[in-house]
Amino acid sequence: MTLAEQFTALDSLLYATRQYWQCTAFDYDELPWSSLSAPLAQLSDSDVAKLDSDQDALYRFFSPLIEGVEQLPKLTTLSTAQVERTDYPFWISNGIKGRKFEQLQDFVAALGVPTEQVLEWCAGKGHLGRMLAFNKAPNVHSIELQQHLCDQGQRSAQQQGLAMHFTQADVLKDDVSAHFTQQQHAVALHACGALHQSFMQQACSAKTQQISLSPCCYHLFTDDAYKAMSERAKQSELMLRHRDLKLALQETVTAPSRVAKVRKTEVEWRLGFDAMRKEITGSTTYISVPSVNKAVFSDSFKAFCAWAAEKKAIEIPQDIDYDYFLLKGQMRKKVTERVELVRHVFRRAIEVWLVLDRALYLQQQGYQVTVNTFCEKQLTPRNILIKARLPN
Ligand SMILES: C[S@@+](CC[C@H](N)C(=O)[O-])C[C@H]1O[C@@H](n2cnc3c(N)ncnc32)[C@H](O)[C@@H]1O
Repeated sequence: MTLAEQFTALDSLLYATRQYWQCTAFDYDELPWSSLSAPLAQLSDSDVAKLDSDQDALYRFFSPLIEGVEQLPKLTTLSTAQVERTDYPFWISNGIKGRKFEQLQDFVAALGVPTEQVLEWCAGKGHLGRMLAFNKAPNVHSIELQQHLCDQGQRSAQQQGLAMHFTQADVLKDDVSAHFTQQQHAVALHACGALHQSFMQQACSAKTQQISLSPCCYHLFTDDAYKAMSERAKQSELMLRHRDLKLALQETVTAPSRVAKVRKTEVEWRLGFDAMRKEITGSTTYISVPSVNKAVFSDSFKAFCAWAAEKKAIEIPQDIDYDYFLLKGQMRKKVTERVELVRHVFRRAIEVWLVLDRALYLQQQGYQVTVNTFCEKQLTPRNILIKARLPN
């Protein structure tokens, strides 16, 4: 299957199933799909948590229930870059946390031997660039917004005798186009939303020989309505919004149990307060209350409601039945979690759709493009690598 065929199949499937994922879980007091009520009611809270942490199990559970889900394993599986992780001296990994370093090792290995000059986009401290410079890239130029990260990166590179220099720039405001050249390998690891889109556009304009990127946070620095990059995706009937793009990022990272417990209380209390607010004001839509220090959730539901009511300028009647609304919150949480579970069936599909839009855009610009995973999901769920090369 070509990338375009994969995109077309995924696009039709996502369009046909959009009622299951293009929604906001907090909007519902009851499950919005009658055909799923019985199977979802049979799941205990721990069944829901277990399914949510295992994408293949999610596909298996929902395949007989939602038409098209049985195709998702095939349409969302990307081949793995077949590379060997190489070892580095300890001083290269200094200051890089365990999983991040393994992620970088895999990313660097998947890029192949660096023969061109490197342009590193949104570099942070330039860990990636330093590893490429260590692997004998002729020169690494790292661009980063935060001056102190540029300074730290520059110091490390100097101490380690690596051919690398930094430029501080806001890539969304400053004109950095002159930094892209033809004989170059432009790399971007986990640059968010518009940051990696602008990277791709500028590299294509400069006809940069090689472009490699692992996208993340597709919604950041972009308009709410998604603007497709490739001609093929521009013809899609799917109208994605930030809410949908965020769904692509919702792979579960198992939280420590204490954090999960506080989170459970938080969701129940927020939904309980929301039910109370609706009753008092006669409103029917969910309105979020700002985030707050988690310590609030070890106090009482009544104290949380007093705080939230002040934020929303609502007066709570003296005789309000807190236990009733807390129970409502607990019941709504069950609904919310089950709506989220159904939406999560499609999270990787949306990410692959977005990645293929980027890959097809690069193809359209004349590049030969591959899309692979470069590391295990446990190291980072944002593990997709798009590699593009201009034919000689
Ligand atoms: C998620 S980090 C990725 C860092 C590095 N590439 C890595 O994978 O370790 C994103 C980086 O983008 C930088 N950044 C954010 N907005 C930027 C902008 N407008 N211009 C340049 N860099 C930006 C941040 O300061 C941050 O260092």
